[in-house]
Amino acid sequence: MNRETLLALIDLARWAPSGDNTQPWRFSIVDDRHLRIYGHDTREHVLYDYQGRASHIAHGALLETLRVAATRFALATSWTVRADPEWRSPVYDVFFVPAPDLPADPLLPYIEKRVVQRRPMRTVRLTPTQRAAIEAAAGDGLIVQCFESLAERIEVASLLWRNARIRLTCPEAFPVHREVIEWRARFSIDRIPEQAVGVDPMTARLMEWVMQSWERVHFFNRYLLGTVIPRVELDFLPAVFCAAHLLLRPAKPPVDPQDWLRLGMSLQRLWLTVTKEGLHLQPELTPVIFRWYARADDRFSSDPALFESALRLAEDFERLAHCGPNEPFFFFCRVGVSSKPFSRSLRLDRERLLRD
Ligand SMILES: Cc1cc2nc3c(=O)[nH]c(=O)nc-3n(C[C@H](O)[C@H](O)[C@H](O)COP(=O)(O)O)c2cc1C
Repeated sequence: MNRETLLALIDLARWAPSGDNTQPWRFSIVDDRHLRIYGHDTREHVLYDYQGRASHIAHGALLETLRVAATRFALATSWTVRADPEWRSPVYDVFFVPAPDLPADPLLPYIEKRVVQRRPMRTVRLTPTQRAAIEAAAGDGLIVQCFESLAERIEVASLLWRNARIRLTCPEAFPVHREVIEWRARFSIDRIPEQAVGVDPMTARLMEWVMQSWERVHFFNRYLLGTVIPRVELDFLPAVFCAAHLLLRPAKPPVDPQDWLRLGMSLQRLWLTVTKEGLHLQPELTPVIFRWYARADDRFSSDPALFESALRLAEDFERLAHCGPNEPFFFFCRVGVSSKPFSRSLRLDRERLLRD
């Protein structure tokens, strides 16, 4: 193996998903069999990166993608991690060893095909084969809870409707929303392009203008029902129009960042499997994140009413999932059949991702 192989691996691995396409990683080639990944998180400026969890999940997805990618070159992968106590900048050392008998992973062709679908999907049910494949990909570490009847999807839609109100009226979330969308774009290398967000073009223009300042957002929300159209288009309709919502619950409570990392690895296997099964997926992580805040009694906003709303939302989410306040949630998403999204996030090019 040589440097070219490592560069080809980086080219594949960079397609791993990350919250808001932040790509919280940079690569360095140590030698021909050794890749170093400098991870970081965005908790200081991204409300949704609660304790760096979303970033750690993404790091796990990246490591799993590398493992799958390496099988293209008949290489076995192992890794170690060194991290500061809060895991703000974990460093992963990834080693590749030739394994001539190692077959290509069946998920390999789906690394570049996997993509978020944020628009409404068809309501055809999951087939027994698709369900079994999802269960198998989740493995022993994850309990998969499925909400698929129309009544359940409407219940989820109303949960997401209320969740979106917290998201859109939270002053602490505003800078995140402003930064993350690349307006008037179909593709974006470091953010989410406008056309992949899921709003119609007129609403997009209005949102672009309103989101220039918090004062405009606040005024629109307060006097002009500013959250209604985005919530219908981004939350309610997609929640109804899909095959099912999946709640992924860890079989054992995660205790440290390494556990979130492992969950991220499972997530990527599951997402690649969903893709292999001809389905699309959209994460719906924010109600899980607000529940993390609520159950840790972590007041995330200067507006105390939003914390109270998050607490009530957590209770309703638990009622829906038939579980108690101490049972951990890992991930929430919807899946379904749809055509390929017309617009998607791309990735930083290799030169920007390489440290040296
Ligand atoms: C931990 C994590 C959380 C995410 N949360 C959301 C979410 O709540 N809503 C959403 O639409 N996409 C979510 N995403 C998807 C990312 O925005 C997406 O992976 C990224 O923009 C790259 O796009 P791609 O997956 O289509 O390549 C999440 C991804 C990860 C890894």
